[in-house]
Amino acid sequence: MKVLIATEKPFAPVAVEGIKKEIENAGFELAILEKYTEKQQLLEAVADVNAIIIRSDKIDAEVLDAAKQLKIVVRAGAGYDNVDLEAATQHGVVVMNTPGQNSNAVAELVFGLLVFAVRNFYNGKAGTELMGKKLGILAFGNVGRNVARVAKGFGMEVSAYDAFCPAEAIEAAGVHAAASQDELFETCDIVSLHIPATPETKQSINKTLVGKMKKGGIVVNTARKEVINEPELIELMKEREDIKYVTDIKPDADEQFAQFEGRYFSTPKKMGAQTAEANINAGIAAAKQIVAFFKEGCVKFQVNK
Ligand code: 3PG
Repeated sequence: MKVLIATEKPFAPVAVEGIKKEIENAGFELAILEKYTEKQQLLEAVADVNAIIIRSDKIDAEVLDAAKQLKIVVRAGAGYDNVDLEAATQHGVVVMNTPGQNSNAVAELVFGLLVFAVRNFYNGKAGTELMGKKLGILAFGNVGRNVARVAKGFGMEVSAYDAFCPAEAIEAAGVHAAASQDELFETCDIVSLHIPATPETKQSINKTLVGKMKKGGIVVNTARKEVINEPELIELMKEREDIKYVTDIKPDADEQFAQFEGRYFSTPKKMGAQTAEANINAGIAAAKQIVAFFKEGCVKFQVNK
């Protein structure tokens, strides 16, 4: 069996070593394609492989067509909107993710971005503290839960809303369950986004919703850029000079957002899951899932059922 790591944004070397060990201990072969700049490089690298480990790398019908021996793709991470699931199913390819493995790293970055934002991007002027502020968590999955845990350490009041998670489960985690997305934006000082990019959520963070926030509201996005209605958020930020937007995913309209000096920040490259620990956890989980798939037929974590 030949397994390919195809990562435009590479894992930490220590994670690659761990993956190599898992794959080779199983008697499989490992190939690595890192920091590729052209799709053609990916198309060539997948030609003879049976499994691929990816991050936010795009796996579409063209890649699947080029990968004639492919049986499984594992997205080492949570969101799999970068994989064309329908095309994978048509090609008889199993797609998996590794839920929870990188969520603490993403949650920690939320607070890195937030402290930076409330201290006015370290411009020397007096900022504010997170303690006592109301934090709204939109979607209470693995990342949302970690954000809640850390927020409590900061002494924040935490609320969450998740269309797919019952209020009781949110309350059981010691978090106030908001009745709706609207309530979260209306009542919280800061809203942290943890929704996946789906047809329902794309563009859903719009002017009406963010416009419900109190004076000085902050939106922090470590989820996906696609969930933001960028033109509407720009319009709102022009009208409301108190709103801040901090994000780990550079918006398409980054240059327009840049006009909001002191109220907008984007990491140059998505950094949420970019820690050695998250890379080790997600990368090795991916390798183990591939081994279990080929040796035992295990399809736990399959997402294209
Ligand atoms: C995820 O969905 O797991 C995160 O967004 C991390 O993405 P990355 O592996 O591209 O950093």
